[in-house]
Amino acid sequence: MSKNNPGFSTLAIHAGAQPDPTTGARATPIYQTTSFVFQDADHAAALFGLQQFGNIYTRIMNPTQAVLEERVAALEGGTAALAVASGHAAQLLVFHTIMRPGDNFIAARRLYGGSINQFGHAFKSFDWQVRWADPAEPSSFENQIDERTRGIFIESLANPGGTFVDIAAIAEVAKKHGLPLIVDNTMASPYLIRPLEHGADIVVHSLTKFMGGHGNSMGGVIVDGGTFDWSKSGNYPMLSEPRPEYGGVVLHATFGNFAFAIACRVLGLRDFGPAISPFNAFLILTGIETLPLRMQRHCDNALAVAKWLKAHPKISWVNYAGLEDDPNHALQRRYSPKGAGSVFTFGVKGGYDAGKAFVEGLELFSHLANIGDTRSLVIHPASTTHRQLSEEQLVAAGAGPDVVRLSIGIEDVGDIIGDLEQSLAKI
Ligand SMILES: Cc1ncc(COP(=O)(O)O)c(C=O)c1O
Repeated sequence: MSKNNPGFSTLAIHAGAQPDPTTGARATPIYQTTSFVFQDADHAAALFGLQQFGNIYTRIMNPTQAVLEERVAALEGGTAALAVASGHAAQLLVFHTIMRPGDNFIAARRLYGGSINQFGHAFKSFDWQVRWADPAEPSSFENQIDERTRGIFIESLANPGGTFVDIAAIAEVAKKHGLPLIVDNTMASPYLIRPLEHGADIVVHSLTKFMGGHGNSMGGVIVDGGTFDWSKSGNYPMLSEPRPEYGGVVLHATFGNFAFAIACRVLGLRDFGPAISPFNAFLILTGIETLPLRMQRHCDNALAVAKWLKAHPKISWVNYAGLEDDPNHALQRRYSPKGAGSVFTFGVKGGYDAGKAFVEGLELFSHLANIGDTRSLVIHPASTTHRQLSEEQLVAAGAGPDVVRLSIGIEDVGDIIGDLEQSLAKI
């Protein structure tokens, strides 16, 4: 370890945290308070006017949340971060900061079903339009850009298909057109991929998944890469025009390379209110301390399971980028050489009915709508997480009717395979 350039595992444990100055507590305390006492009236005025940083009210900022933000920013290599109540809240605040009514953004077609729903339906009420593109084809993003386009959104490793995306190629399109590239890095986590190093400008996460890692707390985060020039074209007035509610402050001019994170906090989180609870921030921080260990074990277990399934006579196909003959293997080797992640899909021979019987026959696996838990999880996306989608969208999202999705946990791999084996034997 070098003091000036600590390694990833060191940052996962230490970034943002120090012993509590009052009590000496070594673990980050849960600051379970709604509000913070001002030193005097001038101090209060400076905090409210953005002339001084400091805690006012937990909807906007809280010391436990601040340690989480600093830690995730360090792990992703960003300039600043904002932790919020969920991954969906993070996405809402990102788009609220860059979009005006009538604007559009281009998003990869292969995304978590809830994101497809949020972008395609809920965002309509703000008059924000999404245009869908093929993540394997950067030109399909470029072809849809017009003068009202304000950003590009992809998942680094797509849920549920477990497919990797050529982030650098899509970043090139974004840069050519002066647009920010926003990457949802939930499935990979910064242990596997750091999208900012490949040209992304903003990273979002559902912290609910691998970052927290134990299936016990909702959370989300926005990481500001500090690279995008928000002042250039006048297309991002939230950042480039004076803010009347803050005495005419221009956020980009005042906060420079962390202005985006500030804007999401003081204009989005403040007014929409999806704050993360200090208790959840504490649990997620604790989870992040073991992220490198867990993530490697998730990947190693998933590869062993994928190989085993691939050789099984009752399995029709396995889609795991870690398998050498997988069409996505080259991209995985390039972007995520430590492993192909924990989540992947496969088909049981016999289609929908056999898949359903297989899911119901599992005992160690939990049948539920989550990923990124220590426990092994299973779901049938077409009837659950992706059920709002049309048949065509289902196939495009990698969630067709026969698809079973696994999120491989960190139990003993022999027990995971044993459970799959006993369930397959019953079909
Ligand atoms: C890749 C991805 N992004 C975003 C989300 C949304 O996160 P949350 O459920 O924390 O709102 C999910 C949830 O499953 C996800 O899998």
